[in-house]
Amino acid sequence: MSKRHEIAVIGGDGVGPEVTQAALAVLAATGAPLNFTHYQAGDDCLEQTGQALPQATLDGALNSEAVLFGAAGASAADVILRLRAELKAWANLRPSKAYPGVDCLRPETDMMIVRENSEGMYFGGEDEPEPGKATATRVITDHASYRIARCAFEFAIQAGYGKVTAVHKVNVLKKTDKVFLDACRRAAAEFKQIQYEEALVDSVAMRMVMKPQDFQVIVTTNLFGDVLSDLAAGLIGGLGMCPSANLGDGPALFEPVHGTAPDIAGQGKANPTAAILCAAMMLRHLGYAEMAASVEAAVTGCLASGQTTADLGGSLGTMGMAQAVIARMGA
Ligand code: NAI
Ligand code: MG
Repeated sequence: MSKRHEIAVIGGDGVGPEVTQAALAVLAATGAPLNFTHYQAGDDCLEQTGQALPQATLDGALNSEAVLFGAAGASAADVILRLRAELKAWANLRPSKAYPGVDCLRPETDMMIVRENSEGMYFGGEDEPEPGKATATRVITDHASYRIARCAFEFAIQAGYGKVTAVHKVNVLKKTDKVFLDACRRAAAEFKQIQYEEALVDSVAMRMVMKPQDFQVIVTTNLFGDVLSDLAAGLIGGLGMCPSANLGDGPALFEPVHGTAPDIAGQGKANPTAAILCAAMMLRHLGYAEMAASVEAAVTGCLASGQTTADLGGSLGTMGMAQAVIARMGA
């Protein structure tokens, strides 16, 4: 009998558990050998237990092979930033791909943003030396830059992309982004089969809107990656279709880019597409590339034929969409 993979499931708050349930139904239908254990985290958990991320959840995540995460509410930073750090998940992969049948600004979009997850503006610390004056420290190391750059090139090869763009602001951030770019160039020299270019973050923001097909794999630092990935989501019709993977030295964590959607929570109408695409990313990560492709093809088929939730103009509920995806799998 093949080995079963231990998966920690953290639904969280709001629509988190709803979309996660839909993703679990799809995973079950693939027949992949997975064991699921559910753990609590987020606002409700904080209210019930006094902690947004209890030790049992952290231990469960650390002892799993992969984590499937939904969303957390106001406590998101205490939950997801801490989880990414504890799992040593230093790479954040955020694909943005337009889907036929989904109304969007730029149907040409098909890019992967590889965002550095462990340093940059979010981990250098902030200070308030005097009232009315605050500082933030941006930490960039060769070690973290080189490993994220290599990750981008390796992903490009694995996924069949031909180009990696390193996004920076070295004309202003002369020291930190020099460290970043030097590391990217070193990695680029090791992957000569992939085209390598460098571009300033502000011009990338414009070019992504005007000509998204210029970009295939983008590698960048933490804050730039955060902002640009939402911009990319805007090009393809919003956050509802955006999954993400956090990878590194520990268990991988997969999460939709969207939050708890409090305006529609509890109504069974959240769009589970991002969560289902997270499940596909998880399958691929665990070595089930064919199953992942079948889930993605089924999602594409549903979206193309208008089998979607209300946010995309369809009439299906969350589980209805999961059932529609399952019905198309292997068909
Ligand atoms: P949000 O992503 O929850 O919602 C933004 C808009 O998109 C809302 O109109 C919502 O209805 C819609 N939306 C989001 N996901 C959807 C889905 N699956 N199907 C259909 N429509 C969907 O972002 P917002 O409103 O800024 O944040 C709400 C809460 O979520 C906050 O407490 C925030 O802290 C948390 N949050 C958590 C994240 C995480 O856990 N990773 C990420 C972003 C926000
Ligand atoms: Mg963000």
